[in-house]
Amino acid sequence: VYRSRLTGWGAYLPARIVTNDELAKRIDTTDEWIVQRTGIRQRHIAAEGEFTSDLALHAAADALAKAGKAADEVDLLIVATTTPDETFPSTATKVQARLGMTRGAAFDVQAVCAGFIYALAVADNFIRAGQAKNALVIGAETFTRILDWEDRATCVLFGDGAGAVLLTAEQGTGANTDRGILSTHLHSDGREHDALYVDGGPSMTGTVGQVRMVGREVYKHAVVKLGTVIEEALAANNLTAADIDWLVPHQANRRIIDGMRQRFGLPEEKVVLCIDRHANTSAASVPLALAEAMNDGRIQQGDLVLLEAIGGGLAWGAGLLRV
Ligand code: ACO
Repeated sequence: VYRSRLTGWGAYLPARIVTNDELAKRIDTTDEWIVQRTGIRQRHIAAEGEFTSDLALHAAADALAKAGKAADEVDLLIVATTTPDETFPSTATKVQARLGMTRGAAFDVQAVCAGFIYALAVADNFIRAGQAKNALVIGAETFTRILDWEDRATCVLFGDGAGAVLLTAEQGTGANTDRGILSTHLHSDGREHDALYVDGGPSMTGTVGQVRMVGREVYKHAVVKLGTVIEEALAANNLTAADIDWLVPHQANRRIIDGMRQRFGLPEEKVVLCIDRHANTSAASVPLALAEAMNDGRIQQGDLVLLEAIGGGLAWGAGLLRV
């Protein structure tokens, strides 16, 4: 049996930083309101001419360098994104070409903010089935391009960025037997479409559209559904919350993250937070947070990491990873 071992991780943030105060000059909001309600202090915004595939490429190259692997060793490349460069082809095939990966398959996965967990689950299942040896899983977004900058209730919440992991098929032995992705758990409920969606697309309007959200509804669903899927992930592995070394949550709202932390009795030191600096980068948020905590040495080999996310669909999920 193959396990998906985490062998590389990478991150990329566009250079330009926009603070809450800067936003407050353009729209009717304040730094205080944004920080109190969400924990967000600033966000990165992609430059003109800088696309999702550019962000994804940087994060992917970083992950490959960490793993010491060449692009032609990768046989599966998945990009989780809601903001593809073009309607088609997939952003993944563009990244594939620019990385110099010539074999295997590349495709996008669309599950909005839960996209990275979905892509991770797909890659893990390919590896377990013996159909991939090295899988690059990337979450990349230029989410600020689909915001309505007149709607202060949504435009302050999001940012741009990309994160990536490389998963390698390994048959662990001895102390390494239980390292890798332990399990992934995906759910969706299409009845909740109206809570969070984009009001356009190729088939309906022929335009790209903008984000529409009923914040309170999303908040309510997030707390309940994330709690349930975390319980499911722990139970599936005969683990309890006390076994978790690190919670790496989707960075949408500090209050949702604190709610999860308290519900599972986790101390603040076990939660990886970057929402203050990144805001909500949708599919990029979990791999960005993971890469940050891997890079600064917080997460160590052998640690048990819980990943979770929820977003439009509604779609949500969780994964457990032994690093
Ligand atoms: N600045 C100042 N005031 C604002 C702003 C703003 N940027 N945005 C909204 N307000 C005002 C509203 O107009 C409203 O004013 P009113 O009472 O006079 O009508 C007031 O603040 C309260 O608005 P609510 O929307 O009720 O505020 P709430 O406390 O629910 O906070 C928030 C809003 C932060 C969006 C919250 O609902 C939330 O975080 N929900 C989760 C949604 C989320 O995280 N979505 C991200 C995508 S999905 C995901 O990734 C999970």
